[in-house]
Amino acid sequence: MDRYSRFLAERTGRMRASEIRELLKLTEGKDVISFAGGLPDPSTFMVDEISRIAVDVVRLHGDKALQYAPTKGVTAFRDTLAKFLTSHGVSVRDYDDIIVTTGSQEALYLVSKVLIDRSDVVIVEEPTYLAALNVFRELESRIEPVEIDDEGMRVDMLEDRLKQLQNEGVRVKLIYVNPTCQNPSGTTMSRDRRRYLLELASRYDFLIIEDDPYGYFTFDGDRVEPLKSIDREGRVVYLGTFSKILAPGLRIGWALGPMEIINVMELAKQSVDLHSSTLSQYIAMEAVKRGVVDATIERARTLYKVKRDVMLEELEQELSKLATWTKPIGGLFVFLTLKHMIDTKKLLPKAIERGVAYVPGAGFFIKRNGSNTMRLNYSYPSITQIREGVRRLAATIKEEIATTHTG
Ligand SMILES: Cc1ncc(COP(=O)(O)O)c(C=O)c1O
Repeated sequence: MDRYSRFLAERTGRMRASEIRELLKLTEGKDVISFAGGLPDPSTFMVDEISRIAVDVVRLHGDKALQYAPTKGVTAFRDTLAKFLTSHGVSVRDYDDIIVTTGSQEALYLVSKVLIDRSDVVIVEEPTYLAALNVFRELESRIEPVEIDDEGMRVDMLEDRLKQLQNEGVRVKLIYVNPTCQNPSGTTMSRDRRRYLLELASRYDFLIIEDDPYGYFTFDGDRVEPLKSIDREGRVVYLGTFSKILAPGLRIGWALGPMEIINVMELAKQSVDLHSSTLSQYIAMEAVKRGVVDATIERARTLYKVKRDVMLEELEQELSKLATWTKPIGGLFVFLTLKHMIDTKKLLPKAIERGVAYVPGAGFFIKRNGSNTMRLNYSYPSITQIREGVRRLAATIKEEIATTHTG
């Protein structure tokens, strides 16, 4: 790398390799149960149905499905997507308010790129999704965290911060939230706070990016209404994805928002990849039409509910005296806070040695360091692995306490 550093653009200095990923490489080829990833369980993939669809799409629509497509996405797919979203409680005015993207990660990148100038303030939940932080850092924004609790973002604290910033003459343009089954915390923003957040958006004139990969398969209670559906002023840009409800390998996501913004995202996307895979869009369209996405949602909901329950039960048995954790109503993660001030990053190699891995929480925080927290994924490991993994984790923590926190 050094040999080429003089050639690299300055902005590459803000692109961070994840040190955690380096640590997790230590798990390769070992008997390590990983709670570190964020992968769906492959048994939720409807392999037979998707194979049939793939064959049909190429045979019957190959002339279009193998061809270039409009940057905003295949029109018929956007129309299908609009109906799908409406049937899942996401209000869509017109399919032209949708741009299809290469996973929702690209949607996040594009919307950030068209909204954020250097030094612009972006408010985020703390903790928040790491890959979003990386986008905001790359664009040299000023990131302002607001704490979350069991009901999501503390909108009272947000209001205080907004007032403070306004008094300092600083304008807030944008807030990024992942309000339903948040990554990493697993918490869901309450309905009252959603309403209040929109009220604040109106009062302080900012836009909201609502990142919603998990709202489609909550396990307990009804779907919590997305911000998008209670947004009366066109302040929400809603991001969605088929990664957890069909297959992440298709790389199909979308942004739904005010057409004026979506159209600028379209311009930005032209320079990135011209358009997302036409073949994937055709497969996803057929999967929606043939009920495969809804069937995958049902599979995911049933399976992940069981897995979540097993993880919570095992944590209760093994760690109730030593830690607290969130109780997600959906999504893929439980967020755990140790009662002792143990640095979970330093603990990770020891956990790996015992055969279990997790993501240390500090990386999800901006200001509070969160060094005694960790994110645990329950969607990917098997039920047996969840039980055994939590036991290994508990043993690691207990040993650490016994050796370093005696007396
Ligand atoms: C909060 C959040 N946003 C966005 C993504 C990106 O998903 P994809 O690009 O696969 O749609 C993820 C993936 O786990 C996520 O957790």
